Amino acid sequence: MQTDIRVDISRAKSAAVGKEHGIAPAELKEIEPDILAIHKILRKERKDKAYGFYDLHKDKESIKNVKAIAEKYRAFGYDNLVVLGIGGSALGITALNTALNPAYYNLMTKRGRKGNPRLFVMDNIDPVSFRAMLRLCNPKKTLFNVISKSGGTAETMSQCMIVLDILEKKLGKKAVKDHLVITTSPKEKGAPKSLLHPVVKAYGLDSFGIPINVGGRFSVFTPVGLFPAAMLGMDIDEMMKGCAAMDKRCSQASLMDNPAYLRAAVQFMMDKKKGKVMSVMMPYVDGLRDVADWYRQIWAESLGKKFSLDGEEVYAGQTPIKALGATDQHSQVQLYREGPNDKIFNILEVARFDKTMRIPEALKNVKELEYLRGVTMNKLMNAELRGTLDALKASGRPVIRTILPRINAHTLGQLLYMLEVETAMAGRLYNVNTFDQPGVEEGKVIARSLMGGAG
Ligand code: PA5
Repeated sequence: MQTDIRVDISRAKSAAVGKEHGIAPAELKEIEPDILAIHKILRKERKDKAYGFYDLHKDKESIKNVKAIAEKYRAFGYDNLVVLGIGGSALGITALNTALNPAYYNLMTKRGRKGNPRLFVMDNIDPVSFRAMLRLCNPKKTLFNVISKSGGTAETMSQCMIVLDILEKKLGKKAVKDHLVITTSPKEKGAPKSLLHPVVKAYGLDSFGIPINVGGRFSVFTPVGLFPAAMLGMDIDEMMKGCAAMDKRCSQASLMDNPAYLRAAVQFMMDKKKGKVMSVMMPYVDGLRDVADWYRQIWAESLGKKFSLDGEEVYAGQTPIKALGATDQHSQVQLYREGPNDKIFNILEVARFDKTMRIPEALKNVKELEYLRGVTMNKLMNAELRGTLDALKASGRPVIRTILPRINAHTLGQLLYMLEVETAMAGRLYNVNTFDQPGVEEGKVIARSLMGGAG
């Protein structure tokens, strides 16, 4: 059975969409030496452990620890898992949950959820939705997981303060440790100080450290994503195997053998040579809709930089956009086909849906619906996808297809790992610091000082 994800750039080539909007074979050849040179830099950075996201699937100790602590809390049989975190501390588990849990998971009975808790990811400070979550989640039956790498983010800390107060008042100080787990900067030399460390100590909480060399948006395979995933009963061993399989492919120096490098090279050239300043990720499968959200962050925060690595003002970056097929055919595709030709399209596909839905022999007296009778929604979705692909091609709009054989823990591990390596390569092609986010940090400081805090 085919388990590998496939990347197909044929519809981004000049042969498909013309020279003005597509990449010519000579252009791919031209970028190869840059890819090779950057490959060496990335390998060295990895070897020097400058960036740790590459090797998380090999960290057996950390994975074992995540599973052990998850087992402890799963034994409590809680109804709810509430993640309090924002940005890189929230988007990974949201993507995994949408992909790997059934649709409308939270509405299912506990039995239907195989005894696993419902998941609420609170990544905002809207008082209306926060109150609504609190009304739904009886603290006695809820585990809260506060996730903040810096341990100082105002949004997450405010949520943490509210929840701590509720737990203490309703269940007593001693019980807090059974309902709150912290994921933050590790308590080790050289690690940034987290305001959550004293909380862990004061209440005797279980906690996880996020490796210093892994940034927020690259942290889905640290306890940031893996602990909630394990709490929800996801197969994290399979996920790690998926990462390992993709790691092997992404360790190839050659552009044509390395799907991450190929995607990075095409998207970069699209921006720099073909005026595709936006990158639309459009899954044709509901389960991957939040992968597009996760990708939006990693692509935006990693590449959107004022300065190059040489200190020059460059204002780099390609604006990521998320869409969903077939839904957004009725909302966005008009613009995508007939508006400015300034976008590269990333279509995510699944070769086989897990379920089949047959359209019945209904409305027999309506002759015009004959083509729908007795076929499957699967076939219709495929036809819609094909229609969009061909319509985009006819309008000279370049497309990269990424095809998953199935949606499961293994392919999700592959997909997210590939997109991380793609981002690392793209950052170097743009010659920017992929792994910092000065623009975000500045906003955090301003908000804190406006509230009368330090900064
Ligand atoms: O990628 C990043 O570093 C950011 O998006 C962070 O994940 C986000 O700002 C949240 O930060 P923290 O986890 O420190 O609360």
